[in-house]
Amino acid sequence: MQTAKITARAHTNIALIKYWGKKDEKLIIPQNSSLSLTLDHFYTDTTVQFDENLTKDHFSLNGKDCEATKVSAFLDLVRQKSGLDLPARVISVNHVPTMAGLASSASAYAALALAASTAAGLKLNKTELSRLARRGSGSACRSIYGGFVEWQKGHDDQSSFAKPFIEAPTWDIKMIAIVINAAKKKISSRFGMQHVVQTSPYYPAWVESTEQDLALIKDAILQEDFVKMGTLAEKSAMKMHALNLSADPHFNYFEPESLEAMQAVEQLRADGIACYYTMDAGPNVKVICQGQDLETILAKLKQHFRAEQLLVSAPGPGATLLERN
Ligand code: DP6
Repeated sequence: MQTAKITARAHTNIALIKYWGKKDEKLIIPQNSSLSLTLDHFYTDTTVQFDENLTKDHFSLNGKDCEATKVSAFLDLVRQKSGLDLPARVISVNHVPTMAGLASSASAYAALALAASTAAGLKLNKTELSRLARRGSGSACRSIYGGFVEWQKGHDDQSSFAKPFIEAPTWDIKMIAIVINAAKKKISSRFGMQHVVQTSPYYPAWVESTEQDLALIKDAILQEDFVKMGTLAEKSAMKMHALNLSADPHFNYFEPESLEAMQAVEQLRADGIACYYTMDAGPNVKVICQGQDLETILAKLKQHFRAEQLLVSAPGPGATLLERN
């Protein structure tokens, strides 16, 4: 017996209010709610077929066979839910420029959740899909939706999932990813956030102040107040990186060029251009701006970086099924 072969596409997302720390490591329940923007340019396509002729799960990424342990653990959740106890073949392709280093677990697990659950015959609604994707990687629960998305932290498996905030924003927002180093990150987000929760004396202040930042950024987005939104996003990112600097032992994701990028953005702001930076668990810097300022900002950044290092995206859609055969 073979199931239908199902392909799903999910786009990556960048958090404006960061998720950094778990309450439950196994179920991936976060300490704080977060808010992200799904991007149009970076996505993962994943095909899943369950097949009794296989002896174990197979996983290939960008045409190369890979270790399937993490994918298998995730498929086990789908097998439990559906009662379909068969191995699967999983084929994933990351549509992210290969040098970008932005390939993210968010688009990967969102696409896998949709493709695997559909192939297994489960008809999950978006809340259930978000909860399932969350079990693969926390940030993946937000990639089920397009546009601005809030992950409401909840307190258990049932109550922790993402919700669309504004799925198709009408204002002209752009995100420039400055690719500084495409190599695999030195400290995974999974380890980094766990270490911070355990050792940073500032962690309680992060949780408390992030709830306020989230309420304020939601107001700013509803009012289409770009300056307020960007200021809060930059603040959330820097607070997250300050947690890493305050951990014991401390660590950080900054490289000299990350600081150079941040200074270029600050200089642009001093010259009257509204743009703000954010950074995740790696050295690449992402700049949030409005379409009207894009060319001016790119011209300035090209004084510091090569054109291929600058990747522009706009708000993107939620996860979708691509084909059924
Ligand atoms: C800095 O979702 O990759 O990008 O849940 O352990 O898989 P796990 O972590 P992950 O962490 C993302 C952290 C972040 C901030 C964010 O996306 O909110």
